Amino acid sequence: MPNPSNYGPDKVLIFDTTLRDGEQSPGATLNAQEKLDIARQLARLGVDIIEAGFPAASPGDLEAVQRIAQTVGQEPRIDRQGNPAEPPVICGLARANPQDIDAAWEAVRPAKHPRIHTFLATSPVHMEYKLKMQPEEVVARVREMVGYAKQYCADVEFSPEDAGRSDPRFLYQVLTAAIAAGATTLNIPDTVGYTTPDEFGRLIRDIREHTPGAKDVVISVHCHNDLGLATANTMAGVQNGARQVEVTINGIGERAGNTSLEEVVMALYVRQQVYETETNIITQEIHRSSDMVSRYTGMVIQPNKAIVGANAFAHEAGIHQDGMLKNKRTYEIMDADTIGLSHSKLVLGKHSGRHAFRVRMEEMGYHLEDEELNKVFRRFKDLADKKKTVSDADLEALVGDEVYQPKETWELVNVQVQCGNNVVPTAVVTLRNTDSGATVTDAGFGSGPVDAVYQGINRIVQVPNVLTEFLVQAVTEGIDANGDVTIRIAVPESRGFTHTAQGRPRRRLFSGRGIDTDIIVASAKAYMQALNKLIDAESATQSTVHIANGERSAV
Ligand code: KIV
Ligand code: ZN
Repeated sequence: MPNPSNYGPDKVLIFDTTLRDGEQSPGATLNAQEKLDIARQLARLGVDIIEAGFPAASPGDLEAVQRIAQTVGQEPRIDRQGNPAEPPVICGLARANPQDIDAAWEAVRPAKHPRIHTFLATSPVHMEYKLKMQPEEVVARVREMVGYAKQYCADVEFSPEDAGRSDPRFLYQVLTAAIAAGATTLNIPDTVGYTTPDEFGRLIRDIREHTPGAKDVVISVHCHNDLGLATANTMAGVQNGARQVEVTINGIGERAGNTSLEEVVMALYVRQQVYETETNIITQEIHRSSDMVSRYTGMVIQPNKAIVGANAFAHEAGIHQDGMLKNKRTYEIMDADTIGLSHSKLVLGKHSGRHAFRVRMEEMGYHLEDEELNKVFRRFKDLADKKKTVSDADLEALVGDEVYQPKETWELVNVQVQCGNNVVPTAVVTLRNTDSGATVTDAGFGSGPVDAVYQGINRIVQVPNVLTEFLVQAVTEGIDANGDVTIRIAVPESRGFTHTAQGRPRRRLFSGRGIDTDIIVASAKAYMQALNKLIDAESATQSTVHIANGERSAV
């Protein structure tokens, strides 16, 4: 691990947990390839530490973290100044038991800078009802398990889960034991998003003052957003000496989510005079990271979301527009360019060639393989036939639709629909099975055209599921805009649950997204994507280890 003291007093380390805590959001399940793509993008963004997963959850999770450690964890990258930089620290989460720590070490050890993050709850309610442990037993277990992790790895992080509702004096004891056993980072989680900024800031200050040795380790904060206070609490932590913040892209995470990376980073950037700190983040990569995570997880960003929402830089009101024209600073505290929202000077249309297209893709930061570029270029040409000009938003959507795809067991070949005010909506669907090569055609009837298409697909694929969400949006303005459909499907309970790191049951939801100028086709694509994710996950979990109440049992 890069020694924390090398960062100097004014550097705030960005610990991204999109792939671990973020992935615990209902329906945000990611496959191994998607996790790797996101980890690569996080490295490009400049995050210091990537919490890549919870390796003890299943062999698949362990492999996914290991792949990230072997690749992203070993690849040099470019820093904010354009100089070669070290790969990020790759971290794996483990409960405070030897099996979890063994699995975490197995997964992260190939990284140049590995970290084991272990945790144990310290609040009265967690100790009594969940752990069924006395406070002294908790202190002893922390000492033992941090020591156990330390024999593998120099860089060990410890978190007292539910610190926000723990007795501070007990926390000092637990944290003192963790430091004595070799922890190098102490992370203070507000696990249920209960504290207020004043309280949380005071807690961080008191921990630094009352825990012997706290000044020699990095104090980190990890906030949840149940009361909408995650960013405010995190900033209060920084003002009181925390030098690592645990965050996720777009603030995704269980329930109301985690602190969002882009909010904290931009607050530290725009209000540097207040916080007197800086980060290693390359802010121009924020928009792309946000878009990728939204696409892969199917978690749509609310339009008014700070920094990355579609309206974050839009000025509707006449009085604002007038002010903006006179001087941008009247209503804008940061430039859209700072987060990588570029305004292309090169307008692409149907006469644009492959070279101009590749140049634009590169400018936008997409370094595509030839085959990927060809696919996206073909889609671009089709779209340019239907639309006069193709915007960056369209191009981003096409890259997402063509390149960021799960393993396709079933491929959509053709879809044809008949509907109207006096007919029963009917769809004819043709799919190809990529394993057998067989092409199958069937028909479906429904209450509407999308329902008919989904019934037709169901008759071929035959994987029971329930549609729980269906959202249609336009990628850009105008009647010729691309339709962007996001859906979520749930697996019936009888087909099993998985569990989070904290042992909570996790409903199995799969998201899908499809882009097309025809929203029926976009809907079909979205459904195929969600079904392919479900099929892929079911084949990967044949040997999954399920975790309940802190125990592991093979199924
Ligand atoms: O919220 C929490 O307490 C956690 C810990 C595992 C750090 O995610
Ligand atoms: Zn958390």
